[in-house]
Amino acid sequence: MLSAVLKTNWARLAMASASLCAALSAEAAELRVLTDRTDDGPIRAVLEAFEKESGAQVKVVFIDQGLLARMSSRPSEADVVITLEVGLLEQAKRRGLLSPMSPKALQAVPPEFRDPDGTYFVDAYRARAIIASRSRVAPDAIQSYEDLAKPQWKGKLCIRSGLHDYNIALFDQFIASWGEDKARAVIGGMAANLARAPKGNDREQAAGIAQGVCDLALINSYYYPKMLASPAQKPWADAIQVIFPDQSGRGTFIMRSGVAITKVASNRELAERLAAFLVTPKVQASMVERTPQYSVLPSVPAHPSMIAVGKGQGLKDGRFKIQWVDLGRMASSREAAIKIVNEVGFDKGPAS
Ligand SMILES: [Fe+2]
Repeated sequence: MLSAVLKTNWARLAMASASLCAALSAEAAELRVLTDRTDDGPIRAVLEAFEKESGAQVKVVFIDQGLLARMSSRPSEADVVITLEVGLLEQAKRRGLLSPMSPKALQAVPPEFRDPDGTYFVDAYRARAIIASRSRVAPDAIQSYEDLAKPQWKGKLCIRSGLHDYNIALFDQFIASWGEDKARAVIGGMAANLARAPKGNDREQAAGIAQGVCDLALINSYYYPKMLASPAQKPWADAIQVIFPDQSGRGTFIMRSGVAITKVASNRELAERLAAFLVTPKVQASMVERTPQYSVLPSVPAHPSMIAVGKGQGLKDGRFKIQWVDLGRMASSREAAIKIVNEVGFDKGPAS
């Protein structure tokens, strides 16, 4: 009797252990992704393509903002993190939330787009570009970020909040590249030239130019092709010229998207496969077509609209000269950038 009970119990245990093993192996083929990229953008299609190729199941959490806070409060939520702003990955690295990738996972990424320790890499980038009215601003009147601070443009500048990640990422680079004094003078000069209190998103600044509210603004370069493709926003795109700043000087500042693997990733091999998949020529080409950012692969051409914009400025293949700012130095400038934005009263708008 006892032996029968024992046998039954052993059989139960064996069954339980078999189903636990099955559950574990099913779990091993699952990859958890955390991203602040938009749910309706191309990332979902890319992840679905990866599922097909790898046979793995990808579970993705989309969040709008607060990626770093989310990673800090739930450090075991994700295996792979995909972000719009790679500076956040540098911050996450400093908090010990990430772990380096193997050289194999990184081999397709040009060295300038890799973290020196291999903890994250850039998979796409865009210019933080100047836009100017086609009808009211002469083609060569604005050539640099510093020009936006000149008194002749008083009351002419539209921009979103100085505290938004896109502007903070730009101002970080001002500080890292020029030093705090010059950065403060340019940010303060821009604040003094505002046409209205900062509001709205990047595209709404182009709308401001189209509506005659202002003559100049700053936007990420990919919004230009996006506006051109939208019947409602095409008039905004038609009203502006897109300028890559400082092409005869040190180059244009960029915003970088990035990818990293967390410290807790349970299936590192699969996580690295996804990371490498994101920089395959096929995925990069579809990203350029759909986002439309610039590929980190020299072999993948820029978006046709950006090639046309570059041509107007004498640039070849739509590629522009980049002003490189080390991400470590950029991250160290973040607090100073926020402080300057507050001190110059950037978001208060023009003084009456
Ligand atoms: Fe954006």
